[in-house]
Amino acid sequence: MPILVLGGGAREHALCWKLAQSPRCAALYCAPGNPGIAAVAACIAIDPADPAAVVAFAAENAIGLVIIGPEGPLVAGVADALRAAGIPVVGPSAAAAQLEASKGFTKDLARAHGIPTAGYRRFDSSADAHHYVAVHPLPVVVKADGLAGGKGVTVAESNEEGLAALAEIKGPVVVEECMTGPEASLFVLTDGDTVQVWPTARDHKRLRDSDTGPNTGGMGAISPSPQLTDALLERAMREIVHPTLKAMRDAGTPFNGILYAGLMLTPKGPMLVEYNVRLGDPEAQALLMRLDSDLVELMLACATGTLKDVTPVWSSDAAITIVMAANGYPAAPVTGTVIEGLAAAEALGVTVFHAGTMISPDGRLLAAGGRVLSVTALGHDISEARALAYAAMRKIRWHGGHYRRDIGR
Ligand code: AMP
Ligand code: GLY
Repeated sequence: MPILVLGGGAREHALCWKLAQSPRCAALYCAPGNPGIAAVAACIAIDPADPAAVVAFAAENAIGLVIIGPEGPLVAGVADALRAAGIPVVGPSAAAAQLEASKGFTKDLARAHGIPTAGYRRFDSSADAHHYVAVHPLPVVVKADGLAGGKGVTVAESNEEGLAALAEIKGPVVVEECMTGPEASLFVLTDGDTVQVWPTARDHKRLRDSDTGPNTGGMGAISPSPQLTDALLERAMREIVHPTLKAMRDAGTPFNGILYAGLMLTPKGPMLVEYNVRLGDPEAQALLMRLDSDLVELMLACATGTLKDVTPVWSSDAAITIVMAANGYPAAPVTGTVIEGLAAAEALGVTVFHAGTMISPDGRLLAAGGRVLSVTALGHDISEARALAYAAMRKIRWHGGHYRRDIGR
C-alpha cells in the first residue's frame, strides 16, 4: 500500500524509517520531507498544510494511509479533507485539534470537567492581561494561546519578566499559576473508540543543561519516563485523558489519532500542563525505536477504526534521543554550517534522524534549521542507551551546533 507522511522533521524521519520496514509499505512518500527522509521515502514538494493539495496528491497516487506528523496541517483541516475524500488518515479533525491550537480551549475544557490543571485566566490580548500579570503571585506562567512551536511559554520568576514575556505575545493570552514537579509525556493512540496507551517518555524542553535557559521544542527525550509509574499512569488516564476524550466525544468532535498529554507530577498528583494532538518531537524518535511490531498495521487500524484488533509489542529496552541544535536556537539559529561524521556515528549502533538539514549543491550536508539532528539509541537501561548516544555524538563533526550533556541523567 502506498503511504504518505506529512511533515519534515526528525519525528517524521523516525515515522518514515519505521514505516519503511513494514512489508505492507509498497511506496512511501513524505511532504516535504528532508535529506534524511529521502533515504527511505520519496520527498514531494507539496504544502502539507494545504488540504486540497494533499487530497489531490493522495488520490493521484492511490495513497491508502496518511500519517500527519505536525500540528499545522491538523489545525488547517487536512485530516478532515482526507476523511471527506475517503482516505484513511491518522490525525484529528481541526475541531479536535483545538486541544493543541488553543490553550484557553483546553483550560476551559479541563475546568468544566474537573480535570486537574493549574489555575488560570484567559485574556483576549496582552494589554488586557497587563495588570493581572503585574500583581500575580510568583512564579507566574505566561502563554500565547495559539500555536508557538513549543516556544510561547514563559515561567517568570518576577512580574517584570512576566510583563516582558507578555509584550512579545500577539493575540490571546493565558496566564497560569505555576505547578512544580517532574514532567512526563503520556501518549495514547485512539480511533475514537479503543484507547491504546503507548510507552511513557520524558522530554527536556529547556535549552541548556540542568533545565536552564529558554523553553525550546525539545532538546532530548528518554523512554520510559523514570517518574511516571504504572500507578501514576493509571491515575492520569482516569483523571485526565479519559475525561478529555469523553468530553470531546460528547461535544460531537471525537478525537482520532495520537493524543499527547504533557503532565506535571505534582505533590497533589498528575496535572495537565498541555495537550498536543500528535506525537512529540523528540519523544517520537525514542518511542518508535522501541516499537517491535509493524507500524503500518497499527496506524492503519487506527485510521480504519479497528484498533481493538491490534496490540503492539514494545521493546523492554530503554531509548534516548539527543537533539543537536544550531547555535542561536531557539531565537535565531545560524544555518548553512557543514556537518560531517554521521556515518561514523551510526557505525556505533545509533540511528541519526534528520530535522533541519539540507544538501548543498556540492553534496555536503548543511544545517538548515533550529533543531538539526536527533541521535537516538537503545540500551538495556537509560544509562546504557545514554552512553552509546553520547559516544556517537562525539563522532559528529559540526562546529555550528550544540547539544545538552545531561539528557537522561
Ligand atoms: P507548554 O507548551 O504549555 O507545554 O509549556 C512548555 C513548558 O513550560 C512545560 O513543559 C513546562 O515546563 C512549563 N510550564 C507550562 N505551564 C506551566 C505551569 N502552569 N507551571 C509550571 N510550568 C509550566
Ligand atoms: N516535545 C514537545 C513537543 O513535541 O511539543
